Amino acid sequence: MRLRYKKWAKPYLHTHQEIAITNLEEQKEQIINILAQPNLFLEIGGGRGDFIVKLSQKNLDKIFVMVEKNENAAAVAARKVVEAELTNVYVIVSDVFHLIPFIKDETIAGIFLNFSDPWPKARHEKRRLTYDLALKEYRRILSNGGKVALKTDNPDFYTYSLAKFREYNWVIENNSYNYRGFAEFDAETEYEAKFRAEGKPICRLVARKGENTYAIN
Ligand SMILES: C[S@@+](CC[C@H](N)C(=O)[O-])C[C@H]1O[C@@H](n2cnc3c(N)ncnc32)[C@H](O)[C@@H]1O
Repeated sequence: MRLRYKKWAKPYLHTHQEIAITNLEEQKEQIINILAQPNLFLEIGGGRGDFIVKLSQKNLDKIFVMVEKNENAAAVAARKVVEAELTNVYVIVSDVFHLIPFIKDETIAGIFLNFSDPWPKARHEKRRLTYDLALKEYRRILSNGGKVALKTDNPDFYTYSLAKFREYNWVIENNSYNYRGFAEFDAETEYEAKFRAEGKPICRLVARKGENTYAIN
């Protein structure tokens, strides 16, 4: 996501520390308290927050944590959360791989990967959010029966991700190369709206943590 530098982003995030985490170490206790809540869903790479704001408004009984490494995007998301007066959403400014060690085993109900960077070059495979080690961490943090829902406009990234989930024995509950957008526990993302307006098909899968033994550890 290309975003201009926003002078207000950092101060805004700092004045809204009740919902925004900008320093994992300094706000460690707060993170632990946030993550201790039941019914918690994680969106990785939430961008400017359209998805998390819409989904959380429809599900006030659930907790949503959005992690986004771009501070400018995260500040826009935080502003939407504050303006919507939502008390069930948190924005964490971090690379997800720095946040994951703070998350205890089997504590997350679901993970959303919306239009993640596809990293098409083979030499960048490890950066994909559905690379083997990422799936291994998702399996660790998801509670029993927990799911990953992935949407993308990129068929190659989709096919790659589907194959990875299958390789590690996740149960594929939904699998569509032309998702119409009608799943109940879902909301349209900013990128999705743009691609739909361009007439681009959207791919979506939902993978449930199944029984598995890992080939790698
Ligand atoms: C293509 S944008 C999609 C934004 C949003 N999910 C949407 O669908 O409109 C991908 C976002 O993921 C973020 N991102 C990529 N890798 C990440 C990582 N490892 N940890 C946290 N955020 C990440 C990027 O900064 C960017 O904002």
